[in-house]
Amino acid sequence: MRLAHCSDLHLLSHDGARWLDLANKRWIGVMNLLSSRSRHYHVAAFEAMVEDLNAQGIEHVLCTGDVTNLALRQEFEFARRKFDKLALGPLDVTVIPGNHDAYVAQGVPLFSETFGDYATPDAGWAWEEDHRHSADDILHWPIVRVRGELAIIGLSTSRATPWFTAYGSLGHGQLKRLRHVLLDERLSGKIRVIAIHHPPAGNRARSKIRGLRDHLAFAHVIAEAGADLIVHGHEHVDLVETLAGPEGVHVPVRGVASGTYFHNKPDRTARYRIYDMAGGQITGDHVRVWDPENRRFAPGEPTRPVDAAPARQQSAI
Ligand SMILES: [Fe+2]
Ligand SMILES: [Fe+2]
Repeated sequence: MRLAHCSDLHLLSHDGARWLDLANKRWIGVMNLLSSRSRHYHVAAFEAMVEDLNAQGIEHVLCTGDVTNLALRQEFEFARRKFDKLALGPLDVTVIPGNHDAYVAQGVPLFSETFGDYATPDAGWAWEEDHRHSADDILHWPIVRVRGELAIIGLSTSRATPWFTAYGSLGHGQLKRLRHVLLDERLSGKIRVIAIHHPPAGNRARSKIRGLRDHLAFAHVIAEAGADLIVHGHEHVDLVETLAGPEGVHVPVRGVASGTYFHNKPDRTARYRIYDMAGGQITGDHVRVWDPENRRFAPGEPTRPVDAAPARQQSAI
């Protein structure tokens, strides 16, 4: 089984965007976009990635969110058209939302409307009303998709947050359901891969501005129920951490850099990571990086060891 993980595409198209739609919080995003983002995140990189993914024998693609910048309908539709060029199709491509896809309150329903079939749970994994924890608990998550020996468990941490913040949270209900999934005997013997947008471990998880508010409760679920791999995005840099699983097991937590960035930080140049799996185990991983000169992806340097940098207090957008 060959799984590809990409994240934080921030695909930018303002074709037909009505400026009146860009109310409230979006103005901050608009200023940010005008100043730098549009020059640093390249749709051409994702187009090349799609071609590369189609050629690398990938059996499942997993994208951990931030497909848009401002959660505009036009952006979701533009991103959707790009994803539809993946030969695998929505059943074998899983997309979860990032904080930019929930930039304003309308973002979450728009994600569901435009990317719904990329986040459909398998039959038998839909949640019933009695699993709801509170009125604002989004019962759709986690989603579970089993493909051969691979079990993808997709989470949503993304909600509209106050200006200048970009934190996420899972919520009590989703954490309870996650525990339920991880302990479900239908997944016994499967390689359980959890997809989450915000980093759930390390210093960056603890950031009040950009981190995962309930990372300790998440760690508690992993310590009890275990997982085989946790992948995330959000930080636009490759990260390696671990979380304690049951019986002293270290569960790898891997962040991948943006899939479209190219500017002045070579270790962040657009990339995605391939995981190979066989016999119920992850047998290896490697990264493929955008070569903007030749407009194609090529093998990249291995990820450096654990990132020990302190949580950044940088701009939240
Ligand atoms: Fe992002
Ligand atoms: Fe993000």
